[in-house]
Parts: sequence; structure tokens; C-alpha cells
Amino acid sequence: MIAPAEQALSFTHEQPQDADAIEALLDHAFGPGRFTKVSERVREFAEFRPDMSFCAWDGARLVGSVRMWAVHVGGRPVIFLGPLAVLAEGRKFGTGGELVQRASAAARAAGYPVLLVGDQPYFGRFGYCVDAAKDVRLPGPVDQRRVLVLGASDLAGLVTA
Ligand SMILES: CC(C)(COP(=O)(O)OP(=O)(O)OC[C@H]1O[C@@H](n2cnc3c(N)ncnc32)[C@H](O)[C@@H]1OP(=O)(O)O)[C@@H](O)C(=O)NCCC(=O)NCCS
Repeated sequence: MIAPAEQALSFTHEQPQDADAIEALLDHAFGPGRFTKVSERVREFAEFRPDMSFCAWDGARLVGSVRMWAVHVGGRPVIFLGPLAVLAEGRKFGTGGELVQRASAAARAAGYPVLLVGDQPYFGRFGYCVDAAKDVRLPGPVDQRRVLVLGASDLAGLVTA
């Protein structure tokens, strides 16, 4: 991996032909346990939004991915963010942050709050807040301290299709 100062990553919306490279990246980043997460339950019923999902490329090599999904929370349209992953040797160069900010901005520009399950110490820097998500219920067991929201303070109810 090239040092960040020399690095010129390109960012594109996810295309159907990117799917295999993304699967390989997610296996690399999360391992086989990734399908047991509650977020996977959400993604089973959510509608994928490629127009808000992004890939990061070092030339032809995929180095990062973030996916976005349309759901409802208590009947209100919301975008669910995840998974987010960056190739291990490409981390700490700001790529994850760039992906989160591009995807979040796309959802916010379209008028949606964004919901995710992740680490507040990471996502907090992008404005994601745990207090705003305290009344959101996921369709399975989750540590409520990892349920975070951007762009709304009054989301409440179960996450549904
Ligand atoms: C999380 C991840 C996407 C970050 O990618 P990245 O390109 O390194 O992100 P950035 O360069 O924007 O940010 C790196 C910073 O975030 C910190 N960070 C990374 N993961 C963190 C976490 N879970 N909690 C707190 N801080 C975290 C890094 O230590 C680094 O800190 P520094 O800037 O003080 O050095 C990447 O580490 C990854 O793919 N991890 C495995 C998959 C994962 O956990 N995905 C997120 C859950 S959905």
C-alpha cells in the first residue's frame, strides 16, 4: 500500500460488478462471524441503496467499501449504514472516514437520518450519537451503546423493511 501523501484513491458508487471484490474485502475485515451480527438481520430485509454506497479504489484494487440500506424506524424512512471495511494495510489513512462521510452526506442530502451499529469512539467523530438512538430497537440482541444515529433526535421504534 502506498503512503497516504502519495496515494490518490478514487471513490465510486458501488456497481454490480464490484460485488465479488466487496465480499472478499468483508471476509478479510470481519471473518466468518460477520453473518451472525444483528446488522445482517437488518440487511436481509432492507433495500440496498447503491446510489449512497461507495467503494474506495487504489487503481483497480478495492481498498474500502461502505454499504447503505433503506429501512424504516417506527414507520419513518431511515438509511442503515454498514458494513464499513478498509483493507488492513490501507487503514489509518482516512479512507474509512472518507467513506463514512460520503455515504452519510448522500443520505442526509436525500433527507434521511442514518442509523448504524458500530463503535461510538469511531463514528462519533462524524456526528453519530448514541443518545438519539436510545429508543431504536434492532431485530435481535444488540448492545444499545453501539446503536448510533445521525440527523435525527427523535427516532423510536423497531427497525423494519
Ligand atoms: C473501522 C475501519 C473501517 C476504519 O478504517 P480506516 O481507513 O482506518 O479509518 P480512518 O483512517 O478514517 O480512521 C482511523 C482512526 O480510527 C481509529 N479507529 C478505527 N477503528 C476504531 C474503533 N472501532 N473504535 C475507535 N477508533 C477506531 C483508528 O485507531 C484511527 O485512529 P487515529 O486517527 O487516531 O490513528 C477499519 O479499521 C476496518 O475496516 N475495521 C474492520 C471492520 C470494522 O470494524 N468496521 C467498522 C464496523 S461497521
